[in-house]
Amino acid sequence: MKLGVNIDHIATLREARQINEPDPLQAIGICKNAGAEQITIHLREDRRHIDDFDVRRIIESSFLPVNVECSINEQIVEILCKLKPHRVTIVPENREEVTTEGGLDLFKNSDRIKNAIDKFLENDILVSLFIDAEISQIEEAKKLNADMIELHTGKYANLSLALNSNLNHTKHKLYTEFNRKELSKMLEDEIKLIQDSSIFAKDIGLRIAAGHGLNYQNVLEIAKIKEIEELNIGHSIIANSIFLGLERAIKDMKDLISQS
Ligand code: PXP
Repeated sequence: MKLGVNIDHIATLREARQINEPDPLQAIGICKNAGAEQITIHLREDRRHIDDFDVRRIIESSFLPVNVECSINEQIVEILCKLKPHRVTIVPENREEVTTEGGLDLFKNSDRIKNAIDKFLENDILVSLFIDAEISQIEEAKKLNADMIELHTGKYANLSLALNSNLNHTKHKLYTEFNRKELSKMLEDEIKLIQDSSIFAKDIGLRIAAGHGLNYQNVLEIAKIKEIEELNIGHSIIANSIFLGLERAIKDMKDLISQS
């Protein structure tokens, strides 16, 4: 299973000081040496971390394929069609959100989604769609000629945190209305949903990635799903790199994934 490392948060740290370090470009060689197979970045409309200059420099100099997450905003689509990353992953974007909260609803703004996909395909850029594990969304992704889907693992990750950490006793109220038995069942159901969705997507000819909220504690269950060929992981790897260094943090994640 391949690992795409999402390096946005290196730029988040830079933007906290609004100067020129740490530079996300410096991460590329380290990611490659550590065994990552892809660089993932998100060009957000508000440019809160990665900016246009980063995207250009990373695409021009990365020896690994670059996967750019983006919304269907016409200006962003235009910019990326010129810069030509290996792949784009279309995600929903809400300016107020801390991070991408849910999958793209392919039945909402469907004309705009189709136009964006068609533009990327005309420019020979592979297209992945970040969606929830739902059969109707997967079927629609196929109809829209996407090459790949990325299944949103955010609910799985939050359930796993609610069960296995103290987060729901703090300001982060995660599923506090459920007891442990109910949470365990919900977690089991969510894994099964991601599993069944992956089998269905593979059967209809889509390639499958997964990501969001994956970390060293919860990645194994998702990595066991054979139909999933790639995981995109950011926050947890960059968080661990503060203590361990980026290369060690990536290698540790690669080791876990390859245990599956
Ligand atoms: N995949 C997609 C489509 C995302 O939007 C994100 C967050 O930018 C990730 C993966 C990585 O999520 P995390 O930072 O929680 O690992």
